[in-house]
Amino acid sequence: MRAIFSSALFILIIAMTPNVYAFQSFFDKPKNLKVLPKDISAADLRETMRGFAFALGARCTDCHVSEKPEGATKPIMIFDRDDKENKKIAREMLKLVADINARVTDLGRGDDHVYQKVTCTTCHRGQKKPVLIQTVLDKAIIEGGADEAIKQYGELKERYYGGHTYDFTPFTLAEYAQTVAKSGDLETGVKLAQFNVDNYPDTAYGQQILGQINMELKNYQAAAKAFEAANKIWPNDFTQGLLKQAQDEARKAQK
Ligand code: HEC
Ligand code: HEC
Repeated sequence: MRAIFSSALFILIIAMTPNVYAFQSFFDKPKNLKVLPKDISAADLRETMRGFAFALGARCTDCHVSEKPEGATKPIMIFDRDDKENKKIAREMLKLVADINARVTDLGRGDDHVYQKVTCTTCHRGQKKPVLIQTVLDKAIIEGGADEAIKQYGELKERYYGGHTYDFTPFTLAEYAQTVAKSGDLETGVKLAQFNVDNYPDTAYGQQILGQINMELKNYQAAAKAFEAANKIWPNDFTQGLLKQAQDEARKAQK
């Protein structure tokens, strides 16, 4: 009686969770592995695929074909097919990661040394194309100048803040503003530096960079204000010197 009951329950559970069972069977007998070991266990293959999806912020369908068989109402996944570009690239990436790790262990740092492993996440950090915030801003400036860069920065921060995909620290934004200014685009540089201190007024470095770009633009009053703020947050001879210089220039300009 008990046996009948439990097998009935078992069948009920299977009937209720068809997706899970269908899903797991995909991992059981892989037919088309070219890089991963052909005898990989279903559990390891499943973990590897979930790892890819997490590392790249991708879905299974970004790499695998989903197709509606003739007469069917719903599409099904066909994991062994190689139609998608991303799947082919992912295979090359698997080899690349293996190469990197082999070269790292070749450093020969002794038997006791524990080598750090490079993984998909090391580079991708939750995105398909592993770009840095600087890359996004470069593109945004070309599209629509400082305003577009500031808009996109805000949108990304809203979506990704707290994660490891993009670096939103004021130090990095100050560095970036300085790079843009040094490339000759002082107007864009100063807007980004101003945006940075508007959001993070308490970082001495951000204020210092804002002051320095304003000096280049001969906005001596604005420069003095920024150096003064920097010197208040972190008093030191260097920013004190910059402040004095800006004040002198501002006075000269007034005469
Ligand atoms: C970044 C691309 C990528 C993502 C995302 C991805 N896969 Fe894969 N998948 C691959 C690659 C590449 C292979 C083949 C590996 C090889 O050739 O050794 C593969 C192989 C497989 C196989 C074995 C197919 C066979 O029969 O040969 C299964 C099953 C599978 N993936 C399921 C999934 C599932 C489920 C997901 C979502 C959780 C997923 N994959 C997400 C790239 C991806
Ligand atoms: C050393 C850094 C690095 C590592 C580690 C790495 N990738 Fe990549 N990956 C890149 C770069 C860079 C690109 C962009 C290539 C380009 O510009 O065409 C890329 C692109 C891709 C793409 C194409 C995405 C697209 O939209 O064009 C896929 C898919 C991918 N990687 C999968 C993986 C997987 C899976 C792993 C782990 C097995 C991995 N990558 C590990 C650097 C890396």
